[in-house]
Amino acid sequence: MQKITIKKILKKKNKTPIVCLSLYSKTMAEVADKYCDIILVGDSLGMVLHGMKTTKEVNLDTMILHGKTVKKSVKKSLVVVDMPYKTYTSELSAYKNAKKIINKTKCDAVKLEGGKKIINIIKFLVKKGVPVMGHVGLLPQSSTKFKLKGKSSNQKREIFEDAKAVSNAGAFAIVVECVVESLAQKITKNIGIPTIGIGASKYCDGQILVIDDMLGLTNFVPRFVKIYSNLKNIADESVKNYTQDVKKRRFPSSENVYS
Ligand code: KIV
Repeated sequence: MQKITIKKILKKKNKTPIVCLSLYSKTMAEVADKYCDIILVGDSLGMVLHGMKTTKEVNLDTMILHGKTVKKSVKKSLVVVDMPYKTYTSELSAYKNAKKIINKTKCDAVKLEGGKKIINIIKFLVKKGVPVMGHVGLLPQSSTKFKLKGKSSNQKREIFEDAKAVSNAGAFAIVVECVVESLAQKITKNIGIPTIGIGASKYCDGQILVIDDMLGLTNFVPRFVKIYSNLKNIADESVKNYTQDVKKRRFPSSENVYS
């Protein structure tokens, strides 16, 4: 199995769609690794796994814990770990925390949210040899409102400039979240690095979803999520059957007993 490198991801731009998933556990990582190019350990884990209200509550240790687990379970895909809220407020804090994430998890890159405002931080990390994935459009660490971005011409220009700046700063790819189709298309056409869309149309170089959303494990079903299975219903049915078996003393049966 050939390891996916940043060089290989860059080569896919305008050629082969890049497959990405955001996930946080060993089992999901083992499944996704067979098919994905990039696995993101996203800070969406705050809400999805830990019942937090926003990603702002996620801290460095939690990202490192999940990052380590995922990286250990992956053989082929490129593993990117989100830098949590307030861990990249200056060039030095960003470098210190990014190094900590990379050293402890052995992941391949980190992801930071923001555009022009964090350009010097991205440049600094890249100069120091830290591979960076950018993230523009809807930024969950800055805004807790779930809203389509780029509807006004001003906002469209701002987000486009953000994406250009992130690309020029040396990021190797950029997540474009929840923007109008025409903006995603313009960004993808005009920057040199792959765009990874989430709610940003087919006009991106790749796509990302949170695995729990597409497996029907969460109640989060915005228009951009395609539900591929309904694992929550399957889990419900299984637990119900187990409960009945225990209550009626059908479990454990002779097959499940050491005689
Ligand atoms: O935190 C996350 O999972 C993400 C993806 C949805 C892009 O940032």
